Amino acid sequence: MAKYKIAWMPGDGVGNEVMDATRPVLDKLGFDAEYTHVDIGWEFWKKEGNPLPDRSLKVLHETDACLFGAITSKPRDEAAKELDPSLQDKGLSYFSPIVRLRQEFDLHTSLRPCKAYKGNPLNLKDDIDIVVFRENTEGSYGGVEFHPVPDNVYEALCTNPKMHKFDAVPRDELAVSTRIMTKHGCTRIVRNAFEYAKKYNRPSVTLVEKPNVLRETGGLMTRCARAVAKDYPGIELWETNIDAMCMWLVKNPNSYDVIVAENMFGDIVSDLCAQLVGGLGFAASGNIGDNYAVFEPTHGSAPKYYGQNKVNPMAMIQTARMMIDWLGEKEMAAKLETAVAGVIAEGKARTYDMGGNTGTMEMAQAVIAKL
Ligand code: IPM
Ligand code: MG
Repeated sequence: MAKYKIAWMPGDGVGNEVMDATRPVLDKLGFDAEYTHVDIGWEFWKKEGNPLPDRSLKVLHETDACLFGAITSKPRDEAAKELDPSLQDKGLSYFSPIVRLRQEFDLHTSLRPCKAYKGNPLNLKDDIDIVVFRENTEGSYGGVEFHPVPDNVYEALCTNPKMHKFDAVPRDELAVSTRIMTKHGCTRIVRNAFEYAKKYNRPSVTLVEKPNVLRETGGLMTRCARAVAKDYPGIELWETNIDAMCMWLVKNPNSYDVIVAENMFGDIVSDLCAQLVGGLGFAASGNIGDNYAVFEPTHGSAPKYYGQNKVNPMAMIQTARMMIDWLGEKEMAAKLETAVAGVIAEGKARTYDMGGNTGTMEMAQAVIAKL
């Protein structure tokens, strides 16, 4: 029997290509796993009205971790139009399956390392080494939204005097999205960030928020962060606002170590950090819970490039590295990182985003050669 059971979930578009390129890398490393294919993505939305069928969730429950490629997602109305005619008008509504997975499995921590490997022509500066901790289940991603706003919600909102400025707005011209945060959720993500900082000797944790405007949710997060920071005397807590942080990250990216943020701000700031060190072709991530984790590159399904053996598989390969590391295969993970760094430093294999013409498969082969 293989040592690990892995849910293999390529999804849509280039997700398939980068996963195909990554498998031989894992094999070369000697990662001992049994892989089970899992359905997810646009095809299943169109055919079955559910981009994440129940049978897929079942496989996830039976495996140790999941490796995920990419999915196409579209806004609600566009998604509804693409449903199979037999499923139209059944009131089905598209909800991002990856967001659903994060919530179903309580994958509370999105871990997004952004490191500038030497020799990558796409690095904004050298020596950037940021790790983003993004809260992954709360905030604006809870799906609690209203349009039109029902009477009871409207009335509840009207207990706030600031609602008066919306008095004259017809109810169907009013939309409300919520940002729901809990003390538990805020404390948990900040604690995870500090634990990481402690383990890897990082001198600071930077909180990205906007408590001057989002007083309640931002205020809660800030209070939780300050409370957690007290338990880590050697590590500084820096408090920043999301807008200014975007500026500073471009200006002084080397000043930051560990960044922690709620869901939406973490989403935004992690894309920014990814671009500092090469962009989507290099951005790996893990959705990590207490007992299960789903690992995914942060890029999408890139339909424009699908089938061309073109996209950079480094993000996916690094994602696989995060998975084996999380499973406890530290030595293998370290070996893989050295191989990836070696390929980048050498500069012979360069995918299109790096200004070269090495294909997806060939880039993965270059990593294998280094192993
Ligand atoms: C990400 C993506 C997702 C998100 C989308 C695809 C729903 O942008 O993983 O960062 O917003 O979380
Ligand atoms: Mg994102």
